[in-house]
Amino acid sequence: MLRIHRLTKSFSNPYGEPNKVLTNLSLEIKKGEFVSIIGSNGTGKSTLLNIISGLVKESDGEITLDNMRLTDLPEHSRTRIISRVFQNPSAGVCPSMTVRENLSLALNKGKLLNLKKCLRHNSEELEELLDCISLDLKKHIDIEVKYLSGGQRQALALVMASVSNPQVLLLDEHTAALDPKTSSEIMELTNHIVNEKNITTLMVTHNLKHALAYGNRLIMLHKGEVVLDAREDEKKSLSIETILKKFEYEI
Ligand SMILES: Nc1ncnc2c1ncn2[C@@H]1O[C@H](COP(=O)(O)OP(=O)(O)OP(=O)(O)O)[C@@H](O)[C@H]1O
Ligand SMILES: [Mg+2]
Repeated sequence: MLRIHRLTKSFSNPYGEPNKVLTNLSLEIKKGEFVSIIGSNGTGKSTLLNIISGLVKESDGEITLDNMRLTDLPEHSRTRIISRVFQNPSAGVCPSMTVRENLSLALNKGKLLNLKKCLRHNSEELEELLDCISLDLKKHIDIEVKYLSGGQRQALALVMASVSNPQVLLLDEHTAALDPKTSSEIMELTNHIVNEKNITTLMVTHNLKHALAYGNRLIMLHKGEVVLDAREDEKKSLSIETILKKFEYEI
């Protein structure tokens, strides 16, 4: 269980005035839940993910994962437990290394090895990882990642984020920079990985279609507060029209 308890975050704006972004936000997310998070620009979605990953320090409140207080752990210690994929397809990969080298690095994450050893891994195991991907990544396994398309990089970033079997996966608009077809392929891959590995997943998206079609829970944030939290059947009963009608000003 990922437990977010009375989380509050205040930034200073460029004029030195306080900007309260999250206010007493509490959420309990069960193991294996796949949560879509929607809400308008600037409403605190990325800040929430940044606090969970340890990139940003909360002003108040706490986050626990089962019996572990994540709040006490520095960001680098959380990377063994929490993986992230960002909007920018180059953010989660090393462009000057090959697909094979990137995957080896991801598989050896957290191990105390020098770089040369980190880049070595059983070839068959690496190639198997790419079997479920429709974007021709296997064909390009010995190509430097900088030559791949945004969609291929994002597929690689997703596989890399999941190979270390993280307990939590954070996706921040990870399909936003992709064309509609590639974006759908990446969503299918995401769904496959999350379900197969039963990873607790928080996916921020502005794509309402994806938010409704994937995952078993949908949360809407507005001005740092939860204004909608729909699970299972309630989520299935939602439509883009009802969300837009009810939350016209929040999206
Ligand atoms: N490091 C920071 N320093 C100061 N203010 C920040 C910082 N990070 C975020 N903010 C402010 O916090 C608020 C929420 O930003 P956040 O990035 O969490 O929104 P978001 O919901 O992810 O928006 P979007 O949909 O545009 O990505 C904004 O007002 C933003 O300016
Ligand atoms: Mg954001």
